[in-house]
Amino acid sequence: MTDVKKLIEKALEMRLYSYVPYSHFRVGAALLAKDGTIYGGCNIENASYGAANCAERTAFFKAVSEGKHEFEAIVICGGHEGTALDYCSPCGICRQVMREFCDPKTFKVILAKNEDDYKEYTLEQLLPLGFGPEDLQN
Ligand code: THU
Repeated sequence: MTDVKKLIEKALEMRLYSYVPYSHFRVGAALLAKDGTIYGGCNIENASYGAANCAERTAFFKAVSEGKHEFEAIVICGGHEGTALDYCSPCGICRQVMREFCDPKTFKVILAKNEDDYKEYTLEQLLPLGFGPEDLQN
């Protein structure tokens, strides 16, 4: 797998692009596709609050809109503007979007404070008993 540190660097860079005039909570993500391409994403808020998009979904939608459907890992870096980062866990909607495209047993979700301080989970750990595309097959 591509160096985790490289993905963390990318997520931290993407965090700088977050558009957060309402929450001031900046999140960056770096999504690694199985072909080695890295897709970055940031959270993008809106005056109509419900229209906000999380960093993770921005990264997924960028990748899927370019024809990528297979992924290995995502790094997430998030925290309030001007404060030290904590481990930022993905929201339920983002976990469900991951479930659509990723194998719960092997896809890695990495929550990073910096290049040397991160925690790694499988999607299955974060979304046990999830509902996925195969559940719609008869
Ligand atoms: N947010 C993300 O982008 N990803 C997460 O994992 C958690 C929350 C965003 C949504 C909103 O713009 C801000 O953080 C506060 O909820």
